[in-house]
Amino acid sequence: MYAQGLIGADGKTGESPEFLEAFQKRIDAEEKIEPNDAMPEGYRKTLIRQIGQHAHSEIVGMLPEGNWITRAPSLKRKAALLAKVQDEGGHGLYLYSAAETLGVSREQMTEELHSGKAKYSSIFNYPTLTWADIGIIGWLVDGAAIMNQIPLCRCSYGPYARAMIRVCKEESFHQRQGYEIVMTLAQGTPAQREMVQDALNRWWWPVLMMFGPHDSDSQHSDQNMAWKIKRFSNDALRQKFVDATVPQGEYLGLTFPDPELKWNEEKGGYDFGPIDWDEFWRVVKGGGVMNRDRIRDRKAAWENGAWVREAALAHAEKRRQRAAEAAPIAAE
Ligand SMILES: [Fe+2]
Ligand SMILES: [Fe+2]
Repeated sequence: MYAQGLIGADGKTGESPEFLEAFQKRIDAEEKIEPNDAMPEGYRKTLIRQIGQHAHSEIVGMLPEGNWITRAPSLKRKAALLAKVQDEGGHGLYLYSAAETLGVSREQMTEELHSGKAKYSSIFNYPTLTWADIGIIGWLVDGAAIMNQIPLCRCSYGPYARAMIRVCKEESFHQRQGYEIVMTLAQGTPAQREMVQDALNRWWWPVLMMFGPHDSDSQHSDQNMAWKIKRFSNDALRQKFVDATVPQGEYLGLTFPDPELKWNEEKGGYDFGPIDWDEFWRVVKGGGVMNRDRIRDRKAAWENGAWVREAALAHAEKRRQRAAEAAPIAAE
């Protein structure tokens, strides 16, 4: 039997070795952990941090592409991009809701994003300079997101795992629309080919950084694997991504900006050159081209949307009052 706790219960009462062992047994048996279940405080905090960062990434990720909606080259492209950016907003909302089941509020998470305390994926701190960037983002950034997120469909925390199933289906549409843009440009005029090659050159290394530091430098990795929050290591996912993506680029006659990229028959995968971790940390710490703009835009969106939140709350309160007047007993 497992003790049942309230949402946000500190869990400390239960953190005896027996409690931790019983919890681990549930995880090992592939049982899903649900919001009202007792859970170690470390498990709860790790998930709040991870799901919160994931939600922020979806929401901030709307900015670099939203910037191109009005400049999409055709009605078809505009409709697809609009749908994609709206999907990302939806992903953010599912994920904020999933995090809220762990006892954190949406306001707290937003506050942490705005103050810089909470991170989001650093890939969104790079600028989108041409239309080809929109194709490359769909193909590579959403492609990397899929690699990261498919294993999360089997994450031990139920609400997160379930949200990921729908998110992954939508991500695969995003990736295809991106690849189709890239394909069109790669088969287009010399200027279009050059534009898409330039975009690939700029995005390739930042995309490889999306999988996070090498396993040897990654904190908390073992505990998260044991808790089945994480199912594959950063390096394993990065390798899978490179192996899946390089043939797709070669098919279009594109080249990757890595002289060391080479098929390795023995390991059955590609070898690739070293990642510039100094750049990675510089951008994570706020030194990317777009860090400041992204947070400024998110803050403005939050402030400009205050009246919508107030109106929605006032409306809900009015409805509650009306229901109470109509059926005073049922409302009690
Ligand atoms: Fe997404
Ligand atoms: Fe996406």
